[in-house]
Amino acid sequence: MKTERLIKNMSDKVYIFDTTLRDGEQCPGASMNIRQKMEIARQLAKLRVDIIEAGFPVISDGDFESVSRISAEIAGTSPGGKGPVICGLSRCVPKDIEAAGKAVKPAGKLGRIHVFLATSSIHLQYKFCKNEKDILNLAVEGVKRAKQLCQNIEFSPEDAARTELNFLTEVTLAVIEAGATTVNIPDTVGYAIPEQFGGVIRHLTQRVGDRAIISVHCHNDLGLAVANSLAGVANGARQVECTINGIGERAGNASLEEAVMAIKTRSDYFKDVQTDVDTREIVKTSKLVSRHTSFIVQRNKAIVGENAFAHSAGIHQDGILKKRETYEIMDPQKIGWGETELPLTKHSGRNALTRRLQHLGCKLSDEEINRVFVGFKKIGDAKKFVYDDDLIALVDSEASVVRETYTLDHISFVGGTNAVPMAAVKLRKGKEVLLKGSTGDGPVDAVLKAIDLITGKRGKLLDYQLRATTSGKDAVGEVTLKASFGGEEPIIGRGASTDVVEASAKAYLNAVNRALTAGKRAKAVRGV
Ligand code: KIV
Ligand code: ZN
Repeated sequence: MKTERLIKNMSDKVYIFDTTLRDGEQCPGASMNIRQKMEIARQLAKLRVDIIEAGFPVISDGDFESVSRISAEIAGTSPGGKGPVICGLSRCVPKDIEAAGKAVKPAGKLGRIHVFLATSSIHLQYKFCKNEKDILNLAVEGVKRAKQLCQNIEFSPEDAARTELNFLTEVTLAVIEAGATTVNIPDTVGYAIPEQFGGVIRHLTQRVGDRAIISVHCHNDLGLAVANSLAGVANGARQVECTINGIGERAGNASLEEAVMAIKTRSDYFKDVQTDVDTREIVKTSKLVSRHTSFIVQRNKAIVGENAFAHSAGIHQDGILKKRETYEIMDPQKIGWGETELPLTKHSGRNALTRRLQHLGCKLSDEEINRVFVGFKKIGDAKKFVYDDDLIALVDSEASVVRETYTLDHISFVGGTNAVPMAAVKLRKGKEVLLKGSTGDGPVDAVLKAIDLITGKRGKLLDYQLRATTSGKDAVGEVTLKASFGGEEPIIGRGASTDVVEASAKAYLNAVNRALTAGKRAKAVRGV
């Protein structure tokens, strides 16, 4: 079924609501610091998303600060100045609503409060022990309270996809009456099937008319998040909630790049409907989010995976050379692929490095640039060219540790088939210099054991991946590992160097530092 005008005067525009910094960050191991969140928010504005959900202000001081700083610095900075709107999430309780209202205040008219309350019978019965009437009243009261603080109000009936349709309709109409300007229909547990979900959205859109925007927010538990979101759009939804690279709780959220490119590429199907996203910024945004969350994008991921436009079969290559459209439905350059500039070399100066880092979306302090510059010169000495991917890996391992508890000062190790593997590690903790040595099953094991002796953290390695960021024998090695530190959620760490043992030490230390700072916040989020 093609999209059709369900309602007279219905807008052609689909609003893109990015929740990478809220729902995306909620997945274990993805927590980011404020500098990383600011960089991502800045890049999302360049990408021209319409709304950025910047966090859940009541949950922690860090979340409050990031929503408030993003509201102050990023609202209205998209080209054209009309967006992005900055949104703060809130449960349907007064203290949350007040915190969200305060956090988005610096955005002025471009602030939004997003209130949510579960409406499915399973949540009513087991989570709240309340009946439908109580929930309806709470939802209306919550929206009215939020409306006193902010004009732009979104309401989400959590677990809407499993909510009985008559009740969902009743709640939707009541919250609009109370002042909600957007009603978001979440498939919280990823249970929906496109045709059926599309039917729900069609029903709601027809009942609501042009009184509010109906939005969709789909999780990917059955791998259907994007398909369900698109079914929503085809049936009248005019806001899609999504994340970069599809990151999010459990199997993740609908991926922004897939939803946006499907709407654009199949404009014949999604008749006249469009988004304002600047698709040329997609690859850059994907890389930035991958770097800051330490979640590697799988090679075969649609749109942003390294293989998404790699044609290895000879017959395909031949076709592409004759006419690109024979085997490519999208132009990779329009998504931001192939935009890499000339690589830097060891002769490039600090200014050239700073400019390139800015181009890559990295806003670093002078102190951080100094660190990266030292690492850059080391790589430049070891190999001829320093590529953008080398720089990104370097920024990740050098800059991100600046505000962390421990930093790596020096390692030395002995390995080889006939030697007992041994390592000595020197770390810094503020002004303190800490030195320990250890043997191990290999040089990497010895180095990690020595780090454990210094930090007292005793990590268990659950996963370890080493990859070359660029091609060639002299490529920078990037290590991504997952470690558990005594009962907490597994933590991901990433580090890079032309020396793979050093890259491993940096990655492990990155995980140790994350474990030291992120544990408290992760628990608070899960307690919601
Ligand atoms: O998945 C969900 O239901 C949510 C709501 C808070 C919108 O993330
Ligand atoms: Zn969600």
